[in-house]
Amino acid sequence: MSARVYALVNQKGGVGKTTTAVNLSAYLAQWGYRVLLVDLDPQANATSSLGVEKFHVQQGTYEALIGAAPVGTLLLRNPKWNLHLLPASPHLAGAEVELVGELARETKLRRALQPVLERFDYIFIDCPPSLGLLTLNGLVAATGGVIIPVQAEYLALEGLSLLMQTLRRVQSALEPNLDIRGVVITMYDGRTRLANDVVREIRDFFGDKVFRTLIPRSVRLAEAPSHGLPISVYAPRSLGGRAYAMLARELLEGDGLSAPPVRPGQPSLAAQNR
Ligand SMILES: Nc1ncnc2c1ncn2[C@@H]1O[C@H](COP(=O)(O)OP(=O)(O)O)[C@@H](O)[C@H]1O
Ligand SMILES: [Mg+2]
Repeated sequence: MSARVYALVNQKGGVGKTTTAVNLSAYLAQWGYRVLLVDLDPQANATSSLGVEKFHVQQGTYEALIGAAPVGTLLLRNPKWNLHLLPASPHLAGAEVELVGELARETKLRRALQPVLERFDYIFIDCPPSLGLLTLNGLVAATGGVIIPVQAEYLALEGLSLLMQTLRRVQSALEPNLDIRGVVITMYDGRTRLANDVVREIRDFFGDKVFRTLIPRSVRLAEAPSHGLPISVYAPRSLGGRAYAMLARELLEGDGLSAPPVRPGQPSLAAQNR
């Protein structure tokens, strides 16, 4: 089986792309799936969230994109979590400009990942907060579709029509099969009426593409990256930890794969989504 490749996309920053990429990766890896996280953002937040000091990274996504080295030689493996990372290397910041003149510039990442597709069950691509060339590479590589994190806040849908336009452009010009795998509602605060209105609005707009799992606003989720740990290790019992476990489960089930049984005391999907 070839890896399911998903890109985490939203040109808005701070909506939870990196948090979702890191924590979905960590849970699926913990459950025995073979997972690769690709850090496609020059800010290298996914890299540092996993405890990899970005100033120590010499080679990574940039070298993969320009074909300087085979991806297989660029991966970092965390043996404790069974998780592979293609880290963001310093030169990634210049890639947006450098790649402009290249032939087939939007398909670099897809071609770079080709040789390792059989080695993984899941590949998550953490895209930067823009719709530039790096993100286009992420979209073209995302043969399983895109996962769009949306913050449950005022103006949540603003900017999404531009994202939809970009998806359609990529569909017609580069990758006809590009699809939305799902929309994840993040930083949800169930105590506010606004958050519930926004959830309704997002569900009206995206219909059944929206994951049932809501990711709550959670201090633990915000703290975990500063310890270089995914929530599955840092605080699995916190609300945020359980929410990402639930999201990972929902993703697996949608993909026709099996998830570990829910332990007693864990909230069920149905309970969370009244
Ligand atoms: N559910 C959440 N609750 C609280 N803080 C969160 C949550 N999700 C993300 N954060 C924090 O919000 C900030 C932005 O999240 P991040 O995942 O980096 O967004 P993006 O990658 O879209 O820019 C980070 O500091 C992150 O730790
Ligand atoms: Mg990010």
